[in-house]
Amino acid sequence: MINFKLNGKDTSVDVADDMPVLWVIRDVLGMTGTKFGCGVGLCGACTIHVDGEPLRSCIAQAADIAGANITTIEAIGETPSGQAVQEAWLHLEVVQCGYCQSGQIMSAAALIAAVPEPSDTDIDEGMSGNICRCGTYVRVREAIKEAAK
Ligand code: FES
Repeated sequence: MINFKLNGKDTSVDVADDMPVLWVIRDVLGMTGTKFGCGVGLCGACTIHVDGEPLRSCIAQAADIAGANITTIEAIGETPSGQAVQEAWLHLEVVQCGYCQSGQIMSAAALIAAVPEPSDTDIDEGMSGNICRCGTYVRVREAIKEAAK
């Protein structure tokens, strides 16, 4: 049994230690806001927060999150940085197809929480692991700047 907090709630799962955390979240716990993109840690679609730090859940193992505080896209709006990011995302209509945007928002919220006034370089570095096939990068950058105000 692996115990952790998920979006503020005590959670236990009976899974193999090496099950990817993304599987735990989506398939075992039924929370599908976190997306499967590449499955090999390259695209960022599966980004969650572990103790406030962004993590690619497709390449993390269930045993790695024992005792941790996990936040997913379903609850990121309850944090100050997540709320600011989501409001800016809506205001600037960042989303195109939407598939990568959970991960984009999770990375952006972590960036703003760590760097309250990010420069373009900070944004490019902080978001470099999140790939968007629609090319929403310009709007992502503007939304992060707006959220950081
Ligand atoms: Fe995890 Fe692409 S699905 S990084």
